[in-house]
Amino acid sequence: MQPDDWLADTRTSYDTVADSYTDLLRDTLPTKPYLIGVLAMFADLVRAAGGGPVADVGCGPGHVTAHLAGLGVDAFGIDLSPAMIDNARREHPDLRFEVGSMTDLDLADASVAGLLAFWSLIHIPDEALPTVLKHFRRVLRPGAPLMVGFHVGDRSTLKTEGYGGHPMKVHVHRRTPEQVAERLRAAGFAIEAYVLFDPDEPTPGAAVFARRPA
Ligand SMILES: C[S@@+](CC[C@H](N)C(=O)[O-])C[C@H]1O[C@@H](n2cnc3c(N)ncnc32)[C@H](O)[C@@H]1O
Repeated sequence: MQPDDWLADTRTSYDTVADSYTDLLRDTLPTKPYLIGVLAMFADLVRAAGGGPVADVGCGPGHVTAHLAGLGVDAFGIDLSPAMIDNARREHPDLRFEVGSMTDLDLADASVAGLLAFWSLIHIPDEALPTVLKHFRRVLRPGAPLMVGFHVGDRSTLKTEGYGGHPMKVHVHRRTPEQVAERLRAAGFAIEAYVLFDPDEPTPGAAVFARRPA
């Protein structure tokens, strides 16, 4: 396998499921009070750090980007999948969405006042994390917050279908909050909080709050 095959496979997979993912996820956020809670906390942290543009990296169809915008955050979305970005633009025509990869983030240094990666870092293998997190730190303003949401676990699996039985070939890398925090520390972030969701479920979720030191 070529080193970047996983990236092409991830893009193709999310292009394939973009429409069903958009339909399935469109109205789910209001049913998830703890996700809404951490997003509100993140919005407050952005405001407290002075406000400004916030990147939702791996935004999918943009429902979380739109939720942040509804909280008064100047949020925009970036996603690897052109089909996801088409859907995000159609669903939220008033917001900005661009195709791009977090492995080669096309944003200027210190240009964002916050960065969210919600269940998108799960598709980045360990060996590519330092590059991705270096980009996250580079594009954040000093003092700006980062929030990462992810599946909790200690193993990686290959997902071969999803979102209504559509074919996928995408690796899902589950990590513990401590492992994610350690990676973030190594990339120069200060860790501020962990939140664990659904701890009694087979695959809990977590959000880690971090910050580029001022
Ligand atoms: C499970 S979905 C999460 C979407 C959205 N953040 C949410 O919470 O519903 C994962 C998303 O990450 C995107 N993604 C995966 N790898 C990426 C990369 N290297 N750069 C940018 N986006 C990526 C996928 O295209 C997909 O839209």
